[in-house]
This record gives sequence, C-alpha cells and structure tokens, in this order.
Amino acid sequence: MGRSNQRATTGNHGGSMKFAIIGDIHGFWDARDTAYFNRSDYAALLFVGDFAPWTGSLRVARMLSALTRPAWAIPGNHDAVTRLQLYAAIRHRRLLGELTAIGMGRRVRQLAAALGPVRLGGFSLDTLPDGIGLLTARPHAMGPDYFYYRSYLKRRFGVGDFTASAARLQALVELAPRRLIILAHNGPAGLGNTPDAPFGSDFNPAWGDFGDPDLRGAIACAHASGRTLLAVVAGHMHHRNRKHGAARTTVACDGKTLYLNAAYVPRMRRDGSHRHHIALTIDGNSVTAEAVFVGSDGGVQAREPLEPRTQHDPAP
Ligand SMILES: [Fe+2]
Ligand SMILES: [Fe+2]
Repeated sequence: MGRSNQRATTGNHGGSMKFAIIGDIHGFWDARDTAYFNRSDYAALLFVGDFAPWTGSLRVARMLSALTRPAWAIPGNHDAVTRLQLYAAIRHRRLLGELTAIGMGRRVRQLAAALGPVRLGGFSLDTLPDGIGLLTARPHAMGPDYFYYRSYLKRRFGVGDFTASAARLQALVELAPRRLIILAHNGPAGLGNTPDAPFGSDFNPAWGDFGDPDLRGAIACAHASGRTLLAVVAGHMHHRNRKHGAARTTVACDGKTLYLNAAYVPRMRRDGSHRHHIALTIDGNSVTAEAVFVGSDGGVQAREPLEPRTQHDPAP
C-alpha cells in the first residue's frame, strides 16, 4: 500500500488503521470522553498511564472500564502507589520505598480489575488489530536517574535494575511480530538532552536526557533485528515546562520509528473543552500522527498534524 497524504477518517479502511493515544490523564476524564471514544472508529486505544490526579487511580479506572473499543494501558509512576510510596520514590528513600511497596502487587491487581476490559500491561506482548505487535514496556517508569519501584518490580517480574529490564524488553522484542508498536510510560533515551526535548528534564535541566536507557536498548534491538517499529508512544514528561511554561517538542523520528509524547496535562480545559488525544494513522508502513482536541459536546475542535512523518521500508 502506497503512502497516503490523506488523513484517514476511519479506524480501518483500505489498509489504513487509526489508533488513539491517550496521554497522562491525571484525573481529567469523564463520561463524555468515554462516550466520544465509544462512538469513534479507532482500531484500538492506547493509554500511557498516570490515571491518578496524584495517587489513587481507581476512580478514573472505573470510568475507563465502560470503554467498548479495544484498549491497552501501562501503569504510570502515579498508579497503584500510595502517597508515601511516591514520596519515597521522588526522594530516593530506598528503605521507605521498600516498606511502602508492600501491597503494591495487590494495588496493581485492583487497578487491573477496575479497568475491566482495558488490558493493563507491563513487560508484556499483545497483538493489536491487523497483527501489529504491542510491546508494553517497564511499568511505573519514572526516569533514568534511579531504578524506581525496584522492590515491586523485582518481586513481580524478577527485574531489579536497568540491565535486567533491558534484557527482559529485548527478549520480548525477539518474540514480537515483524511490525510492532511500543507502549511505555516514560520515553526512551536518545531523543535530546535539552529541557524541550521530547523526554528532556525540565524540572532540572542539568539532568539532560531523562529518557530511559532500557527502553532505548529495546528499540535498538527491534531495529537491529529488522523489525518495523512503527511507533513508540509514551508520556510522563508533561508538555509544558514546569519552570516557565514553554512548550516541549512532542514528536520525533529517527528515520525508522515515530516517537510520540502524549502527556498533554491537563488534557482538557477547566470548562471541559479542548480534550486532547493523539490519532496515530498507520497506512501500510507509513505512519502519521495528529493531536486531536475534542469539545465537551463531543465534536472535534481542532486537529494539529504532528510532524515529522516517517516512511518505513516495506516489512519483509
Ligand atoms: Fe504524568
Ligand atoms: Fe508519570
């Protein structure tokens, strides 16, 4: 199928397929969002995590359980954790982190149950419509400066550091279909070290590139193995700079893969208008994306193309 410059309007027609990427919700979701996506013809919905306003994701998760489109999600660093646990993570308090991680497995199971048909992943592999692989990366990712939520990840997955995480992700890549998408909470290293880079540190510019090295390793493995990695979708690093409100670059391309940061926070205005998500269109091996803003009446208020575009070689 040749490249199409048209913006597809249906989920799957003539080889073109659309996916919705929903960035960090942080409490900003209501029944109108659910109704909008249930009316939509997206082939699938992908949630990058951070459902909770701060902590406490179950209220949003129960609303998401009413979604009728196929949907997948990864937990963010605010999901299935307590306030004290998040504090311990932010402060790098290892002992407190281990103590407060007790019960995290149960909280993750509660979150998965509350999400109902929305499948909650993490170090997992699924198949999207049209046979596209979905690799869900390390859950609860929070940045490369510390291996956050280590005791939970070690207990649940046997993964206790970035090296082990990279190995687990690369093993999943080797099992993945030839064409795939990666769903992550934080994005990969390698997309820039300035505060306005897709995953650059804005809260402390001296920290530079705040993307995750284990995810970068998985991407390198996908490329080296000849797979067509259509897109890597993530969030976590919010679009607005925390210090001065400047806008972040939210899309990148390395000539093989499209990278999207979907964390437009808050994802709607106070009056309930301008609800953000990203529409990802896959037409053969051509991938395009646009930001979509939906009004509280369910109508589309604006569409903004997210450049650059990428053209992959045909999959073998
Ligand atoms: Fe977030
Ligand atoms: Fe986050």
